[in-house]
Amino acid sequence: MGRSICWRQTPGLALLCLALATAHAADTGRRSDAELGNLVLQDCGSCHGMTLKGGLGPPLRPDNLERLPVEAISAIIREGVPDTAMPPWKPLLTPEETDWISRQLKSGALLH
Ligand code: HEC
Repeated sequence: MGRSICWRQTPGLALLCLALATAHAADTGRRSDAELGNLVLQDCGSCHGMTLKGGLGPPLRPDNLERLPVEAISAIIREGVPDTAMPPWKPLLTPEETDWISRQLKSGALLH
């Protein structure tokens, strides 16, 4: 099932829309912790580094995220960062999943 998402790239400009062929996570149930952990290291890692030490995107290790509470990190993942390469993940990940990822990033659990 395809879904489309729209977001406002820059104030005053038309909404930018993306059609995603990926089924929403809710259609298939929550991904397992192992699947989500892999997604972080593979998909997020493609920009943030496979060991989350940074690349195109900033490092996502506990020391780097100290200033951000779990809720703020989860919101960044869901909404992305406008005008940067950081995409919004809410079409692909449920809030429960982004909360889980945020807690793992804060604790560094995926790095062990
Ligand atoms: C296509 C590249 C790309 C992918 C894929 C990507 N990011 Fe990002 N991300 C970025 C960039 C670039 C920034 C910096 C945005 C800015 O300039 O504020 C960023 C910023 C962030 C931040 C804020 C970090 C901080 O210190 O302010 C978090 C958290 C984050 N990304 C998490 C994730 C997670 C989790 C995933 C996977 C679900 C992911 N990103 C996938 C490019 C990416």
